[in-house]
Amino acid sequence: MKFRILGPLEVEGSAGEIQLGGGKQRALLALLLLHANEVVPASRLIELLWTETAPADAAKALQVQVSRLRRALGADVLRTRPGGYLLAVDPESFDLPRFEKRAATGRDLLAKGDAAGARRALSEALALWRGAPLPELATDPFARPELARLEELRLAAIEDRIQADLILGGHAQVVGELEALAARHPLRERLRAQQMLALYRGGRQAEALAAYREARRALVDELGIEPGKALQELEQAILRQDAALDVPAGAAPAPPRPGRRAAGTFVGRDREVGELAAALEDAAAGRGRLFLVSGEGGIGKTRLVDEVASRAKDAGAGVLWGRCSKRGGAPPYWPWTQALQSLGEELPELDPAAGETERFRSFAGVAAALKEAAAPRPLLLVFDDVHHSDELSLLLLEFVAGELAEMRVALVATYVESPGMPAALAALADHSAHHRLRLQPLGVEDVARFLELTGTAHADAAAVHAETGGNPRLVWQRVR
Ligand SMILES: Nc1ncnc2c1ncn2[C@@H]1O[C@H](COP(=O)(O)OP(=O)(O)OP(=O)(O)O)[C@@H](O)[C@H]1O
Ligand SMILES: [Mg+2]
Repeated sequence: MKFRILGPLEVEGSAGEIQLGGGKQRALLALLLLHANEVVPASRLIELLWTETAPADAAKALQVQVSRLRRALGADVLRTRPGGYLLAVDPESFDLPRFEKRAATGRDLLAKGDAAGARRALSEALALWRGAPLPELATDPFARPELARLEELRLAAIEDRIQADLILGGHAQVVGELEALAARHPLRERLRAQQMLALYRGGRQAEALAAYREARRALVDELGIEPGKALQELEQAILRQDAALDVPAGAAPAPPRPGRRAAGTFVGRDREVGELAAALEDAAAGRGRLFLVSGEGGIGKTRLVDEVASRAKDAGAGVLWGRCSKRGGAPPYWPWTQALQSLGEELPELDPAAGETERFRSFAGVAAALKEAAAPRPLLLVFDDVHHSDELSLLLLEFVAGELAEMRVALVATYVESPGMPAALAALADHSAHHRLRLQPLGVEDVARFLELTGTAHADAAAVHAETGGNPRLVWQRVR
């Protein structure tokens, strides 16, 4: 006979599920299962079952319930003991001890440094859960501590599993889950710490620090206490970008990295990287959007998108690039031809001479092809320098942007704003549904960090900043 309490109560005999009687019978079984293989005193069962108004002859009423349940389960399962009752259960046939055993194995493996094994065991353990435990007892005030204990076991196992994910370099996969968990359990410091670390490792330092402030506010407001030492230290480590926060080397097989890592130094741009990373997460969840990144020449548009693209690849997304040629002579649809070439031959033909109907059909075909290509993994589609784009490419860009809401595609286009930019681009930029990022010059602190990272810390950051106006291309030229 199999018993399950990690969700609604279920009992399964050799002939399938056993139908239980009314609320009292289910509650009685649930209580006995919470203390399986132990004697539960009859007085305690009465107290738990008739919370408010115990019948005059409560002992008799309990006996009636017990004998009904015994009929359903068998006398060898529900046994009478002096002063109470005992439910005899094989731990292998009961989901709670199976969960506890598997979760303990996972925790041991984690302590021994086998994160991959831990992750497997903990995922198996958590797969035994079907929902909130024992909803049949949810309204019973006496059962509340028991149910809270079960929820606590589950949450601890989730935290352990996330710990393993983080060791394995899976911060991008868990960051959304952590956000939801932290919202539901705002006072849980371990979850907050994990959320901060996942954000930080995803290049979202500012959001990591915001998560700390939110955690602190919740703790101070609700409990009147400051965050624990571990959380405070984590905040400090994030502020100084401590190398100890990085994914431990060698703990994991190298994460899949299909493309090249953005080369070289990268400073600042926390907010922009965070926004683009969030756009990518939304895309992964099936809500794509278009981001327009603008700014003067050399301000770092390409570098920013390159950084985001390499992080996207690390997180398992696909990346497609279409560059617009500054030189004249590029054929129509040139950026699209480049971006789509890796998708294979099934693409609709983009014929510059096509009439309007034909063009519409081919645009819809491109949107459909992208949607399909993004089904197995989200896509980041980048068009760099679209102020050099041809008119038809911009029309296609606008068309696809209108279809993104149900696609797993994040679309990013960069351009230099100018009075002479193509009308179709100006229209796109005016469209309020699209997100815009206007890149500003680097601040003095960014320049200082840049000098430090390029081994030119002896230069005076304030002077370099003043001289270059914080334009990274000029900063590069200055230190080279
Ligand atoms: N945040 C950054 N940290 C470090 N270096 C940067 C940063 N942003 C840009 N750079 C460097 O500054 C130079 C100019 O950046 P980038 O080519 O991205 O500018 P851009 O805005 O794309 O310019 P253009 O409009 O000419 O294409 C590059 O060498 C790039 O590596
Ligand atoms: Mg550029």
